[in-house]
Amino acid sequence: MIPITLPKTSSEDAERTLFDTIEAQFSLSDEKLHDIVGQFLEDFRVGLSEYNHPMAMIPTFVTGVPNGSETGTFLALDLGGTNLRVCEVKLLGNHEFTLRQQKYKVSDALKTGEASVLFGNYLADSVDAFLTTPSVSPTTAAQNPFAGSSAIDEINPEVDPALPLGLTFSFPVEQTALNQGKILTWTKGFAAKNAIGHDVVQLLQDAFNRKHLHVRCVALVNDTVGALLSRAYTAGGCILGAIFGTGTNGAYVEKVENIAKLGDAPVRKSGGEMVINAEWGAFNNTRSVLPSTPFDNKLNRKSINPRYQAFEKFISGMYLGEITRNILLTLIDAAPKPLIFNGFSSSTLNDHYGIDTAIMSEIEAAWEAGRPQDAHVKPVEGAHDPVLDTSAPEVPHTNGTKAKEVPHHFTEVDKASPEDVARLEKIRGIISQLFFIDLEHVSLRDAAIVRWAVSIVANRAAQLSACAVATVLIQTGRAKLGGGIIPAEDRVIVGVDGSLIQYYPNFNARLRASLRMLVGEDVESRVDIGMAKDGSGVGAALCALQAIKQGL
Ligand code: BGC
Repeated sequence: MIPITLPKTSSEDAERTLFDTIEAQFSLSDEKLHDIVGQFLEDFRVGLSEYNHPMAMIPTFVTGVPNGSETGTFLALDLGGTNLRVCEVKLLGNHEFTLRQQKYKVSDALKTGEASVLFGNYLADSVDAFLTTPSVSPTTAAQNPFAGSSAIDEINPEVDPALPLGLTFSFPVEQTALNQGKILTWTKGFAAKNAIGHDVVQLLQDAFNRKHLHVRCVALVNDTVGALLSRAYTAGGCILGAIFGTGTNGAYVEKVENIAKLGDAPVRKSGGEMVINAEWGAFNNTRSVLPSTPFDNKLNRKSINPRYQAFEKFISGMYLGEITRNILLTLIDAAPKPLIFNGFSSSTLNDHYGIDTAIMSEIEAAWEAGRPQDAHVKPVEGAHDPVLDTSAPEVPHTNGTKAKEVPHHFTEVDKASPEDVARLEKIRGIISQLFFIDLEHVSLRDAAIVRWAVSIVANRAAQLSACAVATVLIQTGRAKLGGGIIPAEDRVIVGVDGSLIQYYPNFNARLRASLRMLVGEDVESRVDIGMAKDGSGVGAALCALQAIKQGL
């Protein structure tokens, strides 16, 4: 990263110019967002036509979405970016379900060690432990899990006493059937050895067999597909499942006739629809349209997968804290005079990935607390705290004007209102506590600068997320870039999951503001974004049900 040197006659003005320059690097014009969607549509087209493209557009072999009447009890195993979950899901058939789960953290050693250890000693052992915990009645573990379910006729416990399990595997996998698929690459800090190119279902099944577990992995599903299916189950329909969490990605319902790369495969001949896992985290790995700043370039260079997952690195929870950390370090290191914290840093700030996106979320929540609500913005249905999510974002609007005129608090802190001062005081405390910097080195102005840095990073992430959602609306004929099409449905249902969309203040509001600009208010107002509750567990269960019905 280019070190920042202020002009010798350093003054408020020179500093202000520097902050404005950084802000300009992060702000995206409407035109830029249009260009990004244009490129996105092109990459969708290419990915649907040929294999081996970064945006993989993976056919999932899921050829329908549930309507909420499905029933049955299933095991689900969910390997995401941060946690491993083992669940028992009971689909009740009335759009409702119950779920019992255990969550485990995945250590860095497991993420980067041998795949046989990850799958054998960890995944299989966790399922074993789950099945033998006292809270699971022995009958649950031993019983045919479909007793009384719509799938009961289709499995015969005499022939196959194994418990069916759906695996949610939140990494790129080239699927060849509902229960088969080769790992294409790792993302989100995973790099387990001897996994790429292997069938993930086989890796897991071998681990179960080695441990003599009576469990059969019948279906493989990406978390985005899980989100899509689970929202469809609870809402009665859904066109897109999207994750905005540790990583980002989307799965949507595509016409089979558009999936040219399936060629003459029998599934293509039967027509209809199929869920496509876009793997949009890899959009524009060449960064020809993505708005890289020096802070992004540094992140990319030092990441475990330089030049891969470009889009994800602008958007997802794994990376936003790191981009912010890069900005703050530049301000600490500015010469001849540091611009924040009297030039003091800390091991948290010095450590690679030392700032968690959750800290950004706390800072924004402290700033937003008590601010007036914007009735125009719909909350994410089922999100953790919709109140936080409905307040008007104090960030540059996508058309280059400001949503609200925001004073540059960091250059004019002395002019801030008493309420703003109170909020900045709170942020000072958070910074000192969570960045481990002595309070005496954190001024109110520093607090305002940190809040500003956090918000420009998060705002850009939300704007880019809107581009991905808009692309799916346009691709499926529900919208036109710039507006002008009214979808046939009154309600275009989208299922979402992930810590950013669920907890990050205003992420949804910011996303919707850009979506409105991209596809017009008529379409945006019909888009119903709701949490895909327990998407990974419920989605895996629904896929397992579909697999069993197909005799897999
Ligand atoms: C993975 C996707 C996944 C997404 C969200 C990305 O890093 O490549 O498969 O859906 O994260 O978890």
